[in-house]
Amino acid sequence: MSKSQVSNKEPGKKIQAIRGMNDLLPEHSSLWQYFEGTVQTLMQRYGYAEIRTPIVEQTALFARSIGEVTDIVEKEMYTFEDRNGDSLTLRPEGTASCVRAAMEHGLLHNQTQRLWYQGPMFRHERPQKGRYRQFHQVGLEAFGLDGPDIDAEVILLSARLWKELGLLEHVTLELNSLGSNEARAAYRDTLVAYFEAHRDQLDEDSLRRLTSNPLRILDSKNPDMAPMLADAPRLMDHLDDESRTHFEQLTRMLEAAGIDYTINPRLVRGLDYYCRTVFEWTTTALGSQGTVCAGGRYDGLVEQLGGKPTPAVGFAMGIERLVLLLQTLGLVPQSALDEVDAYLLPMDDGATGSAMLLAEQLRTALPALRLQLHCGGGSFKSRIKKADKSGARFALLLGEDELTHDRVSLKFLRESRDQQSLSRSALVAELATLLSGNVAK
Ligand code: HAM
Repeated sequence: MSKSQVSNKEPGKKIQAIRGMNDLLPEHSSLWQYFEGTVQTLMQRYGYAEIRTPIVEQTALFARSIGEVTDIVEKEMYTFEDRNGDSLTLRPEGTASCVRAAMEHGLLHNQTQRLWYQGPMFRHERPQKGRYRQFHQVGLEAFGLDGPDIDAEVILLSARLWKELGLLEHVTLELNSLGSNEARAAYRDTLVAYFEAHRDQLDEDSLRRLTSNPLRILDSKNPDMAPMLADAPRLMDHLDDESRTHFEQLTRMLEAAGIDYTINPRLVRGLDYYCRTVFEWTTTALGSQGTVCAGGRYDGLVEQLGGKPTPAVGFAMGIERLVLLLQTLGLVPQSALDEVDAYLLPMDDGATGSAMLLAEQLRTALPALRLQLHCGGGSFKSRIKKADKSGARFALLLGEDELTHDRVSLKFLRESRDQQSLSRSALVAELATLLSGNVAK
């Protein structure tokens, strides 16, 4: 990059974040932590191990895996040349990187792997509610297992997450099978013949896709094409026997586990690596960006990237969309909103040192306590105001009187209960009880 390109042409003008890339502000970070914590625990409970990969990869990795003729690779990647002249890309998704890393470190040699990841992904899409240019995914990938049982497992894991977050009744599972690569190639010919016969009804985008990626035409949202698409030959009717059995077994397992689903024969997904099972969890509560989790099988990808044939299945969910959904539906638990439990305030400057020591004692005695210590002096009134603003449930007061009698005052900031004067040990016991939620509010 030349010096003139980076020069500061308008000194003094405020520099703003890039469109479609958001700051996560403190008022929302507890909710993100609640979501991420719930997912992380769940992944561990199902025996998935975390993998972290760089956010930048060689461009060829994504072009070869996601597919040259996909929206992502054609229009949406943040691709640049680095100082060595290599073409690099900010990852638009996590699966390709996960496969690359697993192969590179020998994780796929004669063994199965259950991996999960989370982090920022980058796509140059038109920003709108639920769609951003930097967004965050949590995803998982299971390698080396080709039966429908692992497909069912990853779907059950996602369903359990919805249950734990209170979302199950607000999301719908859509399923389809894309069949084997061979069956899909044969179906592709049938489909192209059908579209050729209805060429006059195809929009510009679809005409372009007719030669490059005709299955994606099925995914078109153009209402003018809807009747013609409704009559198009269905992939489900052209499945190879093995894929059909796989799909039937999967649906039986889901039924046995009490998971409702609908079969959507037009669900083809926007990335080229899929075969057999594909699925999406969608909601109607977020407007047009309603897919909160999506994935499927990609049995050919490892080989396509130079590894041994390895069956694989996975999904990724969009964290922004799920956080938005929790907020929209009012499903955010109070604990995910509170940042601190208690605010400890020295009532005057003479108590500052003792308050700091007490804060440390309490943190040692009660590791779960989220305690903020008042710093910065000020009048008693302003200290109490700050205690209130902190969002804490209780204030702990330490003044001359308390110090003389070796006690601490416990003041309830959110409920009408009498202030208590407690010895330090009684305070620890009382806070422990309050934190465990044993005491009625
Ligand atoms: P995907 O459907 O491209 O699949 O993305 C998965 C999820 O990421 C979407 O359902 C959505 O919730 C979220 N998402 C995608 N783009 C955006 C965006 N611009 N803004 C906000 N959220 C977005 C994949 O990425 C595959 N790697 C999933 C997978 C894993 N398949 C197998 N393993």
